[in-house]
Amino acid sequence: MRAIVAEHRGKRGALLPILHAIMEDLGCVDPAVVPVLADELNMSRADVHGVITFYHDFRQTPPGRRTVRICRAEACQAVGAAKLVDRAQARLGVAFGETTADGAVTLEQVFCLGNCAIGPSVQVDDRLYGRVSPEKLDRLLEVSA
Ligand code: FES
Repeated sequence: MRAIVAEHRGKRGALLPILHAIMEDLGCVDPAVVPVLADELNMSRADVHGVITFYHDFRQTPPGRRTVRICRAEACQAVGAAKLVDRAQARLGVAFGETTADGAVTLEQVFCLGNCAIGPSVQVDDRLYGRVSPEKLDRLLEVSA
């Protein structure tokens, strides 16, 4: 992590690129890094913590082996996203931002995946799916588990 900090320290607004780099390398921003980043960047711990918790993309716990994201923005809501949300949460037994007990799947909500014309949209890791029916969601979740 100190190497990441050293790479970005001179940049204006260095905290965000550092946090993105930590996410890329480690998969999450462990709360233990807060005092280190505060010290390295001459910021208060509260400021560093505030940035980490403001942006939902900065996970503070490791993600599951697969990440399933369900779009909850307006266009997808209009074509059935709410049913997908209920189904995914019931099947996986987790709420948004949580990971199944076996570490297989992390469930997240997003607000537009840029796939509005063929919603409802779901993303599994880096792969995007459109016109996801409840049955199609079941198949995606089975593959992810
Ligand atoms: S609203 Fe769901 S992809 Fe844009």
